[in-house]
Amino acid sequence: MTRFLPDEAATLAFGAELARALVPGLTIYLVGDLGAGKTTLTRGVLRGLGYTGKVKSPTYTLLELYTVSSLYLYHFDFYRFADPQEWVDTGFREYFNADSVCIVEWPEKAGEFLPAPDLRISLEAQQSGRSLHVHAETEAGKQCLARLNSAASS
Ligand SMILES: Nc1ncnc2c1ncn2[C@@H]1O[C@H](COP(=O)(O)OP(=O)(O)OP(=O)(O)O)[C@@H](O)[C@H]1O
Ligand SMILES: [Mg+2]
Repeated sequence: MTRFLPDEAATLAFGAELARALVPGLTIYLVGDLGAGKTTLTRGVLRGLGYTGKVKSPTYTLLELYTVSSLYLYHFDFYRFADPQEWVDTGFREYFNADSVCIVEWPEKAGEFLPAPDLRISLEAQQSGRSLHVHAETEAGKQCLARLNSAASS
C-alpha cells in the first residue's frame, strides 16, 4: 500500500485507519528519518483507539505503555541505542507477545534480535508532505493490510 500524506492531519488520519485494523499480537516497524512522522502516526493510532491523553515520543524513555480500547499498545523508540546489545539488556523482549501491539520507531538500532515485524511502514519526506508505504511481512500482517485496504475502499 502506498499513500501520499499531504500534512500532519493526514498522518494522524492514517494512524486512525490503522487503529481499526489492529489485533493483539502485531508488531509494526516504523521506518524513516528524523522528523519523518513516526511518532505522529502512532499518535493517530492512539487517538483512533480513543486515547485522549498525551502521546509523548519515547525518545528518552525508550518505551511508552498504553492500555486502550482493550488493547495493550507498546510504543518503542530505539534511536538512542548505541549498540544492539542494549536491546537485549533492556529485557523488552517479553513485551512482544500475543496479547500486545508493539509499534517500534528506529527498529534498525535494536539489531537482529528484535522480533521480526508483521508490518513495515516507511515514511519519507517529500517537498511537502510525506509518502507512506506499508509492507506486510507475515500472514498476520497481510490480514491487517487487507482490513486496511477494505476499509479504505468502502
Ligand atoms: N504528512 C505530513 N506532512 C507534513 N508534516 C508532517 C506530516 N506528518 C507529520 N508531520 C510533521 O513532522 C514533524 C515530525 O514528526 P514526528 O515527531 O512524528 O517524527 P518522527 O519520525 O517520530 O521523528 P523522530 O525520528 O525524531 O522520532 C512534526 O512536526 C509533524 O507535525
Ligand atoms: Mg519519533
